[in-house]
Amino acid sequence: MRVLGIETTCDETAAAVVAWRPDGRGEILSNIVLSQFADHAPFGGVVPEIAARAHVEALDGIVDRAMREAGLGFDELDGVAAAAGPGLIGGVMVGLTAGKAIALAAGKPFSAVNHLEAHALTARLTDALAFPYLLLLVSGGHTQLIAVRGVGQYTRLGTTLDDAVGEAFDKCGKMLGLPWPGGPHIEQCAAQGDPARFDFPRPMFGRPVPDFSLSGLKTSVRQTIEQLAPVMPQTLADVCASFQAAIVDVLIDRTRIAMGAFAKALPQTPRPQGLVVAGGVAANVAIRSALQRLSAETGVRLVLPPPNLCTDNGAMIAWAGIERLRLGLEDGMDFAARPRWPLDQSAPLSPTGKA
Ligand code: KG4
Ligand code: ZN
Repeated sequence: MRVLGIETTCDETAAAVVAWRPDGRGEILSNIVLSQFADHAPFGGVVPEIAARAHVEALDGIVDRAMREAGLGFDELDGVAAAAGPGLIGGVMVGLTAGKAIALAAGKPFSAVNHLEAHALTARLTDALAFPYLLLLVSGGHTQLIAVRGVGQYTRLGTTLDDAVGEAFDKCGKMLGLPWPGGPHIEQCAAQGDPARFDFPRPMFGRPVPDFSLSGLKTSVRQTIEQLAPVMPQTLADVCASFQAAIVDVLIDRTRIAMGAFAKALPQTPRPQGLVVAGGVAANVAIRSALQRLSAETGVRLVLPPPNLCTDNGAMIAWAGIERLRLGLEDGMDFAARPRWPLDQSAPLSPTGKA
């Protein structure tokens, strides 16, 4: 089975062709990602209207490249998948409409993919990981701990009550005068800093429900910077290192608690088959190393997809389409774009409206 996947929910225009292999993994035949980074950087964040327009301008060329690199014509596909949400509605509509049009014109089955489900299933594309497993999703828009029970079967164990982890990195980066997005720049600065110099708060640490709250940490960083202004290079590095250390501690504590919550949510299978990390923040080496230590300590296998499959891409959409189409889960041409689309429909929204 060979499926074209299209991703346009945020600021990456992406298309990929993935084939299902008999050993249960995916084979990526092409994976083209065009980042709109330069379009948004002057504004210090993603501007929805600019994103939608950039997707319109780039998508046909990106799809064309993905098909050419895969060496296939549309008629040789077994299906077309497009992310139908959650995300910025203008961009989602661009990719969803294109996906439907290609499927209709080529007479192929269509799959409307949940972007979060695509992140959740990437560990099966790369490692054929069996269900059930624990997913730590840490991106600019989402911070969640999810029990992945099967395709379309998700139990949210924890979420953020305010900022997403990537958002906290980006907001602190902005306060420190670092370029957008702050995450990679904070990590770079932190390498020269002392993580023990500032004792920033570890919000929610030790709480029995694996939720997150990061606004208090952000406020504490702001107050520290204000007290120390003007911030010298070594202080900047120390703030970055201390902030990153606080985030690492929170992530490890919350993930450990979620492993216990997993056993309560799925009494038949108390141990996850693996711990999977997805989202742009998963590129952070300090976070990756800490998760490796947690995995060694608990004996739960860690699956860390390569960074280019942790951030937004078309291969994960194609793979989610493969998983769904193999189960006969086809979607119609009337499937509408969804700005909000929680994986666990039964879980309440957080106070900020985040899924
Ligand atoms: O998944 P992603 O590419 O896009 C979405 O948010 O959907 O994630 C982007 C986020 C940004 O907040 C960025 O600052 C963060 O991931 N990020 C990092 C690192 N690389 C990217 N955060 C911490 N350390 C990094 N090395
Ligand atoms: Zn994403």
